[in-house]
Amino acid sequence: MLAVAVLAAGKGTRMKSALPKVLQPLAGATLVERVLTSANRLKPERRILIVGHQAERVEEQLSGVAGLEFVLQQPQNGTGHAVQQLIPVLSSFDGELLVLNGDVPLLRPETIEALVKEHRDSGADVTLLTARLADPTGYGRVIANNKGRVSGIVEHRDCTEEQRQNNLTNAGIYCFNWSALANVLPNLSADNDQAELYLTDTVAMLPLAMHLEVADPDEVNGINNRSQLAQCEAVLQQRLRLHWMNEGVSFVDPESCTLSENCSFGRDVVIEPQTHLRGSCRIGDECRLGPGSLLTNAKLGQGVTVVHSVINDATVEDDVAIGPFAHLRPSAEIGKGCRIGNFVEVKKSQIGAGSKVNHLSYIGDAQLGTNVNVGAGTITANYDGVRKHLTLIGSNSKTGANSVLVAPVQVGCDVTIGAGSTISKDVGDGALAIARARQFNKEGWVMRSRS
Ligand code: UD1
Ligand code: MG
Repeated sequence: MLAVAVLAAGKGTRMKSALPKVLQPLAGATLVERVLTSANRLKPERRILIVGHQAERVEEQLSGVAGLEFVLQQPQNGTGHAVQQLIPVLSSFDGELLVLNGDVPLLRPETIEALVKEHRDSGADVTLLTARLADPTGYGRVIANNKGRVSGIVEHRDCTEEQRQNNLTNAGIYCFNWSALANVLPNLSADNDQAELYLTDTVAMLPLAMHLEVADPDEVNGINNRSQLAQCEAVLQQRLRLHWMNEGVSFVDPESCTLSENCSFGRDVVIEPQTHLRGSCRIGDECRLGPGSLLTNAKLGQGVTVVHSVINDATVEDDVAIGPFAHLRPSAEIGKGCRIGNFVEVKKSQIGAGSKVNHLSYIGDAQLGTNVNVGAGTITANYDGVRKHLTLIGSNSKTGANSVLVAPVQVGCDVTIGAGSTISKDVGDGALAIARARQFNKEGWVMRSRS
């Protein structure tokens, strides 16, 4: 039987943030979500999150995680104190307790599995994950012999100068025999620089403590400040890009692009410099994204090009060209073969296949048929100051440059709208609609006014 407890009660003082540390985002997921999911493959019997600082906010963020138990630690008197809160919760539990620090987000599931396996094989009371770090500053130092047996952990701030030379560090990931741990937990004392109860002190109290050293020290990066957050982001981004390169995605300048964990790509996608994908994007085969584009929750079919544009919660079908400098906003649905050009904004609108909105337009709350040509500067005036209204434009219609369609308004199929028209009445199929002041020329006026 296995229980997993994630320590997520701390404030994260060193982050200097209004957000609790474990809710800081990394490549589209919070630190605590990453830590929780890293243990999913073990299928633990119980999953417990220890919350404290801004507990409600943390619980709300994770309310969707099925079967997750929340245990409150109040006040937050150290990692040992946090685990003491489990004594009543796990009173009838008999098995291993896997403790994961909520601020160590790069752990691979395989590594946690290896830790639990090693623990079961050796019969130790605790097995902890360690790493040899080039710069161990800030981490607890693990005192171990060459057979992997651990005699204690000393926090960086409590170390002597000599102990600081030891670069075997504690990752904050432990597999305990719960009953053995529960026996020693009440004996912790706050006799240290921070005057807190340290979980790390239990290691010296248990009869047999062992450690497992990770091969890739990046995995155990703990996040205590913004610089470590940025380092972890860089590691994750590199992992994501490598993963997608192996799946057939090209990056022209990989380091300048960022992805979120929930993006997926078809084959032969090319990502140009300075392009960023966030949320859950689905990108079809042979799309070309960027340079200079930001896509959030975008669904793109095949062969779509996006240049210097922003797409947010929108769907684009095959063979569409977007940009430069276009903005697709929530619920924009762009049909096959459309062209959305320079300085065009589309919101909550369906644009039928083969339609073109090429220059300087705002299309909001509109439904366009197929092969519509929206002239330069056409605007749907969808908002009357109180409510939003719909504009309908039938297939094969053309709007002249600088037309304003005052919604609610319905324009039929095969309509032509004269340039500069303000259309506020419906237009039937096949009609020409012109709504602008008639032009008249005063012959000779200039010469007369000069004399
Ligand atoms: C801890 C370890 C250190 C290890 C490092 C790895 C201790 C005493 N030290 O140090 O040996 O090298 O992690 O990253 O454990 N938390 C609570 N309640 C509290 C205090 C903290 O739930 O009262 C949670 C925090 O939210 C955080 C985790 O425990 O997720 C670790 O706390 P943190 O203060 O970051 O410990 P470190 O100083 O990093
Ligand atoms: Mg930490």
